Amino acid sequence: MNPTAAFSRYSLGQFPTPLHRLHRLEQALGGGHLMVKRDDLAGFAVAGNKTRPLEFLIGDALTCGAEVVVSGGAPKSNFASALAAATRSAGLECELMVPGGKLDDPPVPLAMAIASGATLRFTGGDREELDTAIDERVRELAAAGRRAYAVPRGGACAVGALGFANAACELAEQGVPDDAAIVLPVGSGASVAGLIAGRAAVGAGWSVAGVSVSRPIDEMHEQTSSIAAACSRSMLTAEPHDALLVDATVPGMAAVTEGERVDALLAFDTEGLLFDPSYGVKALHHALTMIRQGSTEPIILWHTGGLTSAIPLIAREGAS
Ligand SMILES: Cc1ncc(COP(=O)(O)O)c(C=O)c1O
Repeated sequence: MNPTAAFSRYSLGQFPTPLHRLHRLEQALGGGHLMVKRDDLAGFAVAGNKTRPLEFLIGDALTCGAEVVVSGGAPKSNFASALAAATRSAGLECELMVPGGKLDDPPVPLAMAIASGATLRFTGGDREELDTAIDERVRELAAAGRRAYAVPRGGACAVGALGFANAACELAEQGVPDDAAIVLPVGSGASVAGLIAGRAAVGAGWSVAGVSVSRPIDEMHEQTSSIAAACSRSMLTAEPHDALLVDATVPGMAAVTEGERVDALLAFDTEGLLFDPSYGVKALHHALTMIRQGSTEPIILWHTGGLTSAIPLIAREGAS
């Protein structure tokens, strides 16, 4: 039984996403057992892994009778952009809190949020204050008689985590063996938290390595274990065990090392796979490093999308 079936869900994507082996990449590495879980093909706009939490968040917002969804994120936030598109599809209004001041030339994700009709509110402050700003705006709207629904940045809450708890059920149905090692990038932690809650619910023995791209490991541990525990409580399922978290915060968001760039080119050249510089390439590099170090267990590399920023990574000097 899938414990997420008891919750409201608004269908956006196409599931299950494909899971397939990367034989040519394995050959180039001289060994290993590497598979990719294609959430980049989740099928709603270019939302990638964000499609999963959004199905549950929008479902819950509709069940709560909300008229407007309030969330936020940095101008390059893939989540905020995907949320804006999802609210539009569901006939809900969307307000996004954006750190800093108004931008003359918004980056692609913010431009997509604008195109989806989201109202932007520039806070003048930094990213860390956004969740407080979101809650304040929801209270303001409620005081004005509007039914507003708060979504913390990244969808990092128990309802958002249901998306990846459901993904764990999907993976179990795809026949992934207990000795598999799952590798995925971590930003807000919603995905990895849901995955470990779902892993406990289905009783799978997979190891889960979350590659943290923007926040220190200690902070991420606290964040992911508390969201996972809240998600498991809401599903009435077994208590989750922590993921292994890997620090990939150096050299910084969207900055890539030479090794990461080489791996992005290798994945493109052998399999035609595109990885973005902020998230995907960090998980790819971790998975390929495991193989280079002799791992023989099946590795499931979770491709989370981020495609709007993936193409510059495969640019080559001298090509014209
Ligand atoms: C492309 C991509 N991959 C992975 C993540 C990380 O997901 P999470 O925030 O659930 O940790 C994000 C977050 O924005 C993302 O945009």
